[in-house]
Amino acid sequence: MRHPSLILLSHDHHHGLALALRCRKQALGRIKPLGIQGLKERAAEVREFFRQNLKRHFKAEEEVLFPFLRGVVPQSHSLIDELLREHEQIRRWVQELEAERNLAKLIFDGGDLLERHIRREERELFLLFEKHVTQEEAERAKKEIEKILERRGPSSSA
Ligand SMILES: [Fe+2]
Ligand SMILES: [Fe+2]
Repeated sequence: MRHPSLILLSHDHHHGLALALRCRKQALGRIKPLGIQGLKERAAEVREFFRQNLKRHFKAEEEVLFPFLRGVVPQSHSLIDELLREHEQIRRWVQELEAERNLAKLIFDGGDLLERHIRREERELFLLFEKHVTQEEAERAKKEIEKILERRGPSSSA
């Protein structure tokens, strides 16, 4: 069971993992429509997910969760540095998808990156949070995270 402060983020992760899997399947030709049409549909889906969800999700992590954990858990520093680098890679990926070149490889690799990133946060970062953060600190972080995440539109709440 996830800590209450992390539930909204975990919810996003759940959707992100499903999308990452669709990306890899699409690139391998296991989802219809096949070929460029399907690849373009997945690229559009990724861009939309970024706009509706990932942008705010990154903001909540970068402005609240990461600085907060850095402050209270010294052993989180190197992990957070790597997670920040992955955020930049994912941002670049979303931009590259607009160019629509090398789409199959781009979509496969990006889906792989997104999945690895999410699993790392769930398995390593969230574990540190749940282990080291006090109830009171967690409550403060929760409020700040919610402030950022709950500004999203109704279409991404499902
Ligand atoms: Fe992240
Ligand atoms: Fe995340």
